[in-house]
Amino acid sequence: MTKLRAIVTGGAGFLGSHLCDAVLAEGHSVVAVDNLLTGNATNLEHLRHEPRFELRRVDICEPFDCGKVDYVFHLASPASPVDYTIHGIPTLRVGSVGTFNALEVARKYGAKFFLSSTSECYGDPEEHPQKESYWGHVNPIGPRSVYDEAKRFSEAATVAYRRYHKLETRIVRIFNTYGPRMQINDGRVVPNFMKQALRGEELTVYGDGKQTRSFCYVADEIDGLLRLAWSQEPGPVNIGNPSEFTILECAQKVLQVTGSKSQIKFLPLPPDDPKQRRPDISKARSILGWEPKVDLETGLKFSLDYFRQAVKELAAANSRGAR
Ligand SMILES: NC(=O)c1ccc[n+]([C@@H]2O[C@H](COP(=O)([O-])OP(=O)(O)OC[C@H]3O[C@@H](n4cnc5c(N)ncnc54)[C@H](O)[C@@H]3O)[C@@H](O)[C@H]2O)c1
Repeated sequence: MTKLRAIVTGGAGFLGSHLCDAVLAEGHSVVAVDNLLTGNATNLEHLRHEPRFELRRVDICEPFDCGKVDYVFHLASPASPVDYTIHGIPTLRVGSVGTFNALEVARKYGAKFFLSSTSECYGDPEEHPQKESYWGHVNPIGPRSVYDEAKRFSEAATVAYRRYHKLETRIVRIFNTYGPRMQINDGRVVPNFMKQALRGEELTVYGDGKQTRSFCYVADEIDGLLRLAWSQEPGPVNIGNPSEFTILECAQKVLQVTGSKSQIKFLPLPPDDPKQRRPDISKARSILGWEPKVDLETGLKFSLDYFRQAVKELAAANSRGAR
């Protein structure tokens, strides 16, 4: 394959940093652009001396230009409920103005454009599992709307640039992904349970814990993203793990993998929390030949060292703060 120069917006985040690694591993060059709102430059520390890589601190809600590029991977956006609740308006802005600015970079250089969208586009789905053809069930004024509607708008903008400007575009709908480099405090299920289990605290389950989620290990997710990026398929394509677990089962797996003796505590369910979420991945299977390989227990084991270290660093930071 010809060697490309790619931009990864949100490159210092959890998925963005893994995507930078994967694109570099294929021999291409990468410019990560990130304003470090929810990401962390330490996720890219190992690339400090890589000549084919650079990190630019850029807020993509302002027009930006990193020179000629062949591919724009647009991942910038707060992604966890904790982050997009704190940063509600920046989330709406990055999904609207930021998406336009990223699309304009692709248009200027005739580059391909890849949008990381989300299963949240399906909202609290009335169809199960969710196929790409399902239009979703989203509350436009609920607490999650800053994220869900920003992503739905990003999809509309991407398709409009394809339709009106003939841009080559791809849209992936990412389902819950976990693994090393997730923020320990971002409130998502896996880091939350890992942190609580490793500290010997109670694991907090919202509602009766019977709501289901599917969890995809990061290496599988990135493999799916790149297969889509290099394919001719515009999408949207669901990339996620179709194995469904209740939140309670996930808590039990975390206890098993960490060997923790923590108890489980039940708290009231937050509003608009989806009851079921599971991708139908027939499209990814047939068009991309993709399916996840890492089951939840194995993925949790792969992630354990990272979360142990993150819990230690958090304790050290908290004790420095207390002094
Ligand atoms: N992790 C998941 O399970 C998941 C699921 C569905 C969709 N996604 C999508 O994948 C993408 C990455 O998610 P993640 O989990 O890595 O989140 P993350 O918060 O770790 O990464 C997002 C990155 O975007 C950066 N960013 C935010 N606003 C910006 C701005 N205005 N300018 C420049 N950079 C900005 C943040 O600093 C951060 O580094 C997001 O678009 C998210 O919607 C993730």
